[in-house]
Amino acid sequence: MRNIYSNIIEMNRKSLTKIKKILVSSQLIALPTETVYGLAGNAYSNSAVKKIYKIKRRPKKNPLILHYYDLSLAGNDFHFDETFLKLYKKFCPGPITFIVKRKKNSRISSYAYSKLDTVAVRFPKHKKIRILLKKLKFPLAMPSANLSGSVSPTSPKDVIDEFKNRIKVVNGGRSGIGVESTVIDITGKIKILRPGAVNLIDINRIIRKKISISRGAKIIKSPGNLGKHYSPGIPIVLNVKKRLSGCAFIVLGKIRKNDKDTFSLSLNANLNEAAKNLYKTLRKIKKLNYKKICVMKIPNKRLGIAINDRLKRAAKK
Ligand code: TXA
Ligand code: MG
Repeated sequence: MRNIYSNIIEMNRKSLTKIKKILVSSQLIALPTETVYGLAGNAYSNSAVKKIYKIKRRPKKNPLILHYYDLSLAGNDFHFDETFLKLYKKFCPGPITFIVKRKKNSRISSYAYSKLDTVAVRFPKHKKIRILLKKLKFPLAMPSANLSGSVSPTSPKDVIDEFKNRIKVVNGGRSGIGVESTVIDITGKIKILRPGAVNLIDINRIIRKKISISRGAKIIKSPGNLGKHYSPGIPIVLNVKKRLSGCAFIVLGKIRKNDKDTFSLSLNANLNEAAKNLYKTLRKIKKLNYKKICVMKIPNKRLGIAINDRLKRAAKK
């Protein structure tokens, strides 16, 4: 039997043609981005987009992000305004997703935007996905490459662990950021729907307006943010001072020699490194068969805000 990990493929000139063919024929493939790995399909194809929902077991009312190389194709699909262009110029390509008004005559599959009059759009930065996007005549509909509700993948092996041999994945190494993009709604009063590597302070430097932040379960604008999400499948307890017995303990900073069952997100308490290691650590703990996770308090600043957001949702009962 072929090893399931043989579905991890390298990107080179020969395989690039194959990858392109997979997408042109409305099949799916997982791709690296700078945030997490995504499960990609042709956003103009109903059949490709339907496949994404089916294989992820994703509720149909939870729309997908469309990924573009730049603004050349994008002009057919959604409206740009001054706010968008300012933020695009500063942060793209990069880890930010915009909720914008969809053009009525756009070719995007209606399944991708769950019949809303807005769409989520992003311009990813990872070198490999940019090489591919540049060659395509359509955007990619691409949610994170995991079963709905579970932890996003940050390595090709994680993707295979989710979908076994049903999906091929392009090797792009460990995801540099490790948590999903910032989602910002710019269709009315500006609002951050999901915190990520581009934060409120960065955005406020460019747009000097009041920007609000959706909190926890109150988010209704971003359907995917409702309810339990990013879950490793075992209970999580947050803001714990000392390891509880029988738990895997996630900390930020040094681990002492006799600290049992303790996993540090970053030995020198660096929040960027902690974000990069968050999902990897949750997956590792699950594989080691722990039945419960407790997590120490993580500072709520910079990428710590995104880490706390994901942990809170993962901990939801
Ligand atoms: O970093 C990322 O954004 C990754 C990589 C693969 O690009 N993608 C990702 O996609 O995290 P996904 O599907 O896991 O999360 C997309 C989020 C969901 O919370 C969804 O509800 C929200 O974007 N969304 C999509 N379209 C929307 C819309 N029109 N209005 C509000 N929220 C929307
Ligand atoms: Mg996701």
